[in-house]
Amino acid sequence: MEKILILDFGGQYNQLIARRVREQHVYCELRPHSMPLDEIRRFDPIGIIFTGGPHSVYLDDSPRPDPGVFELGVPILGICYGCQLLAQSLGGLVTAAEDASAREYGKTETVFDPTCALFRDLPERSVTWMSHGDYMAQVPEGFRLAAHSAACPTAAICDEERGFYGVQFHPEVNHTAFGREMLRNFLYRVCGAHSDWTMADFKRRSVDELRRHVGDGRVLLALSGGVDSSVLAALLSEAIGSQLTCVFVDHGLLRKNEGDEVEAVFAPRPLNFRRVDAADRFLARLRGVTEPEEKRHIIGEEFIRVFEAEAREIGAVDYLAQGTIYPDVIESGLGESAVIKSHHNVGGLPDYVDFKEILEPLRMLFKDEVRQLGRELGLPESLVARQPFPGPGLAIRVIGDVTEEKLSLLREADSIFREEMAKAGLDQSASQYFAVLTNLRSVGVMGDGRSYDYAVALRSVQTSDFMTADWSRLPYELLDRVSVRIVNEVKGVNRVLYDITSKPPATVEYE
Ligand code: XMP
Repeated sequence: MEKILILDFGGQYNQLIARRVREQHVYCELRPHSMPLDEIRRFDPIGIIFTGGPHSVYLDDSPRPDPGVFELGVPILGICYGCQLLAQSLGGLVTAAEDASAREYGKTETVFDPTCALFRDLPERSVTWMSHGDYMAQVPEGFRLAAHSAACPTAAICDEERGFYGVQFHPEVNHTAFGREMLRNFLYRVCGAHSDWTMADFKRRSVDELRRHVGDGRVLLALSGGVDSSVLAALLSEAIGSQLTCVFVDHGLLRKNEGDEVEAVFAPRPLNFRRVDAADRFLARLRGVTEPEEKRHIIGEEFIRVFEAEAREIGAVDYLAQGTIYPDVIESGLGESAVIKSHHNVGGLPDYVDFKEILEPLRMLFKDEVRQLGRELGLPESLVARQPFPGPGLAIRVIGDVTEEKLSLLREADSIFREEMAKAGLDQSASQYFAVLTNLRSVGVMGDGRSYDYAVALRSVQTSDFMTADWSRLPYELLDRVSVRIVNEVKGVNRVLYDITSKPPATVEYE
């Protein structure tokens, strides 16, 4: 398989670069900039991308790759900080843009040299997204200028003989009009990629690997009924058949009717499906806990204790499988250690886990790749296209302490919202939508009396990767219907708010 190595210098769009490369059907991994040279050699990339980052290359403590990376004979694309790093490391000069007019932030009209492979077959002028305070005062020997803007004569540089390219702007963000095409040019024209990363191939390889790795061992899968663990159930089932047992934990933090729905979908399949009712133990441990991270840790640990107990009952279980996906790995420090990865996935695994190994076969996939893999495995669209639901469930959607009474209010409000979204035909177009029970109580007037009740917040977002998200522009009529129904039908709620914050600066969930 052909691989692109993305060396991470701390920029805010780094995961997006990885997404963009995968979208072009080329496999890539994001690794720390400090990756040792012999490891880079073993990784055997067909091309390397240096990401952007918040530092200035001319400072002594700025992050740098092993200088041997320039001698590998492998093409390199430097983006923003990565571009300045390339220039400085090879003999150019990078300085702070003293003159404010040389600093560039935002959409910038840029002129390209179409003879440079990066810009071939693209318009000579288009908009790019710039975000830099430093600039290349002098390009290194062997390089030529390949793009400029009004403020910056060195918007892109290239040394085509060595396969080195640098761009000051960010081709990975949508605001760069032809950014995808530029990355595609780098992958296909410069690195000679062949488009060999598809989910059909991934499925074949994973099934083989899992069979080899697991041998005749037994695997317990933590199945939540969400997209990731459902796809993993199908993958494992194809790989190891009856050696798999799927355990679905009803922690009392599920949405209305969810437990029965999950059971109805999975129990009839040959997955050795087991449903565990563990609501009492989860709710007992959550009593009085208000701090979000503490909630996550408690829930993460309880999950594991339940799985361990199930494993003892089943007997001779070697592996615990989880549907961890790539954003979890990236957000937890680039997969430096298995414990940190798993930590994030269920909001805080305990340090000690009584299994021989945790298997995470989807850990290198993005959400839309997981969905595609699900289709390859023959899962129905209704399951593959489901909106995500977090492992800690409604506990992180009840702000503050979690009680049965609050959970019940939230279940009803959330169910009304979901029902109306479906009726309006918007359940498939919104990426994720749900209700949150805030800890805000306010005065209202119901009939002729005063009320002092909770406010429910509605959240709906549009996103493909869940790492950034925009709030959904839902029709007012729909919001009105949902609001009227919630305050009328859910006793204890007298106010409904609609959340119009994107991620960043907010997150999708409230805790
Ligand atoms: P945030 O709130 O981080 O959420 O913007 C991004 C996506 O991740 C889901 N999420 C979780 N999923 N365990 C999960 O399985 C968790 O602890 C967790 N926290 C957030 C969230 O629902 C959204 O889709």
